[in-house]
Amino acid sequence: MRNQPIEQYPVMSPSDVRSAIDAAIVQVGASLGRVGENFKHIFSTDGFYETSENDQWTNGFWTGILWFAWQLEQDPLFLKTAMAHVQSFRTRIDERIAVDTHDLGFLYSLSCVAAYKLTGDEFAKETALMAADLLAARFHAKGSFIQAWGAIDKADNYRLIIDCLLNLPLLYWASDVSGNDEYRKKAQAHIETAMDVLLRPDGSTYHTYYFDPDTGEPTKGVTHQGYSADSAWARGQAWGVYGLALSYRYTKKSEYLHLFDVVTQYFLDNLPENLIPYWDFVFNDPSDEMRDSSALAIAICGLLEMIPLLDGPQAARYEAISSRLMKALYTHCAATDPSKSDGLLLHGVYGIKTPFNDCKNHGVDECNLWGDYFYLEALMRMNGSWVSFW
Ligand code: GLY
Repeated sequence: MRNQPIEQYPVMSPSDVRSAIDAAIVQVGASLGRVGENFKHIFSTDGFYETSENDQWTNGFWTGILWFAWQLEQDPLFLKTAMAHVQSFRTRIDERIAVDTHDLGFLYSLSCVAAYKLTGDEFAKETALMAADLLAARFHAKGSFIQAWGAIDKADNYRLIIDCLLNLPLLYWASDVSGNDEYRKKAQAHIETAMDVLLRPDGSTYHTYYFDPDTGEPTKGVTHQGYSADSAWARGQAWGVYGLALSYRYTKKSEYLHLFDVVTQYFLDNLPENLIPYWDFVFNDPSDEMRDSSALAIAICGLLEMIPLLDGPQAARYEAISSRLMKALYTHCAATDPSKSDGLLLHGVYGIKTPFNDCKNHGVDECNLWGDYFYLEALMRMNGSWVSFW
């Protein structure tokens, strides 16, 4: 457990931000040199990413990183590669390649919505709207939620997951650009159901929740990647932090402010001495368990999203905390030597098998694409270069 309040840790100075961005751009350039217009695998192996087809839930993160790199450097190679990815995302949706998933927001907000916002490209906008249609079609009126994984008619997949909160901005965005309020209504219905079932009295969250397909009644909370059904998976909690901030931005519903404070406070209270969370909050110091740097990167982005939407002391408090968390993330986890890794953020975890979950050991103490992405997003925000793709 920590001995001092987060506010007493060192801050991330403007020159730290600049140095971190410079190092990140070197890493991105080295990686682009290796993978060209291909995509990168979900996580690194011994620090380096294999190439991948555009058929994983994580492909959009690398494209989002390329958009950031283009914003920062104006190098046409970043633009050309990101636009080639947009074409690939269109093929993916036209040919229905691995789109039976709620992850359409992760995939299409960071590739096609980003392309539209940064370049005005209409083809990218149309493609993102096609993705929003598929995501909206995953909404179940019975239970009032968006189904996470798999074919929509499979009773054994009748469940939501907390990660989906990050996919809702694709629906809010689609309503804004199309004038069709149906996307927004589904997004709001989903988050309301999700927070009703996932939030526990102590501010921790379940990872996933099942519903009865016949009645729509919630049945049970379980985990997929956390330690156990009743523990708090660190990344799930972070998805809650950022997802609530984004829904507040789009809806201004005051109840999301309160929920954000509760979920965030649990996350902050359970950070260990060096501020890099263990992969599940069932662990704390002293422990040999792995950290999940990506959970911290996501939560920092959630704080940075919320700060300008607040006023007064709570904004100042979250500002002070986010700066310290970022300094810890930069100090302990930034990848700064392209001969050792072509990722941006070290010490992430994709999944660790336990007797109580149903995932495998993979991407353990490695870089992963979302950790890299949210780390750079946080730096863009701190640098004042931020255009939201969400
Ligand atoms: N959304 C999947 C994960 O966080 O691993």
